[in-house]
Amino acid sequence: MTPSSLKFDGSFLPSGVPLRLNDRLRRARSHLLTLRDRHEQGWLQVPSDRTLTSRIQSMVAETSKFDTLLVLGIGGSDLGARAILQALPQQKRVMFAGANTDPDEWTMIEKTVNWKKTLVNIISKSGDTIEPMSAFLLARECLKKAVGKAFAKQIIATTDPANGTLHAWAELEGYRQLIVPSNIGGRYSVLSDVGLFPAAWAGVPVDGLLKGATDEQHAFESLEPHESVAGQYAAWHAEAFTQGRNLFVLMPYVARLDSFAHWYRQLVAESLGKAFDRTGHKSVAGPTPIAALGATDQHSQLQLYMDGPEDKIVTFIELEQFDQPVRIPALPASAPALDALPGHSLEELIHAERRATAEALAGRNRPNGTLVLSRLDAVGLGHLFQMFMLANALLAELFDVNAYDQPGVEDGKKRFHAWLNAAPLDKAI
Ligand code: PA5
Repeated sequence: MTPSSLKFDGSFLPSGVPLRLNDRLRRARSHLLTLRDRHEQGWLQVPSDRTLTSRIQSMVAETSKFDTLLVLGIGGSDLGARAILQALPQQKRVMFAGANTDPDEWTMIEKTVNWKKTLVNIISKSGDTIEPMSAFLLARECLKKAVGKAFAKQIIATTDPANGTLHAWAELEGYRQLIVPSNIGGRYSVLSDVGLFPAAWAGVPVDGLLKGATDEQHAFESLEPHESVAGQYAAWHAEAFTQGRNLFVLMPYVARLDSFAHWYRQLVAESLGKAFDRTGHKSVAGPTPIAALGATDQHSQLQLYMDGPEDKIVTFIELEQFDQPVRIPALPASAPALDALPGHSLEELIHAERRATAEALAGRNRPNGTLVLSRLDAVGLGHLFQMFMLANALLAELFDVNAYDQPGVEDGKKRFHAWLNAAPLDKAI
């Protein structure tokens, strides 16, 4: 079997753009490599950090007697693991909560979970994010009710290794601990303990994810930037943005990548949506990322992409080889619109639908490109994660914004804390 690979097909994008931007891309890459060498951005190094896998595998072995893992987190502490676990087959049950404060959602989870057999993984780098920490307090009570004093053995805290509330509670009550390295921000943490522990616990081969990411990183470092997938993606998107196409659509024709598109959406929005550039001037950047899904959104979003404002660049993800061939059976009776269907495979249909959509968009002068992934296994998914993090970091360099802070989110968090401190308790419960 040939190794999983990732290519960018830019036939429906303006030709020559990546080559024309090569010097700017080269400077951008060189700054990223400086950040890597100074250990300022750990995700640029993580793929080669092998101590990570042994730490995670030991934790998986220690906790294998539980039959469910309940992951509590939000944003970067949540979306990566969800993307992995939707994309790849799992052997054990993983559930998610803490990404919302919807009481009905929590009640449903509380009733569904068998607390005696459930391991809780609370993930929060800061340890003070209200949504997952509220869910954690509720889960902790459920565990205490179910198993009494032994509850702490059923908790893994993934957090800053030295600071913060969650770290302090873990020390106080004796939870098991995993780490979010201080030089890896939430939305870049999928290939750290944050995303890899839930994946490994469910039986996903995390070595494969790291291998794919390492291969993508090597390609990024060794090829001319205009030849690497990340460089091409960044160049075409930077160019589109300057032409007024400020909506970046990601539309995988792979149902298992629906959650991946939501991970991508956060990565772009929080990294590039900045008021000021790095010199303190008003930023001109801030593309709006849109998560779509082919073929489903052909019957929802596509009309807008075809005939609406010319403000979008669309990236499809095409999977060359699906895992399961499925052939369409015979019709119960002849039907003119469907007579040609029997005998075709679903794989043929989804490829044809993507191709037809790409051609139709191009026919209306709507630029679109396709990332072609050979297979959606752990290695292939590792390629995708690292490619998008690199491309997004390149775009931040080209737009001259800091891709690693989120002042707007922090402002919202502060105001929420202030409201909480001032608000009277709800006496109705
Ligand atoms: O990307 C980010 O930094 C954010 O989305 C955070 O991941 C999110 O706000 C959760 O933060 P924490 O892990 O501190 O609870």
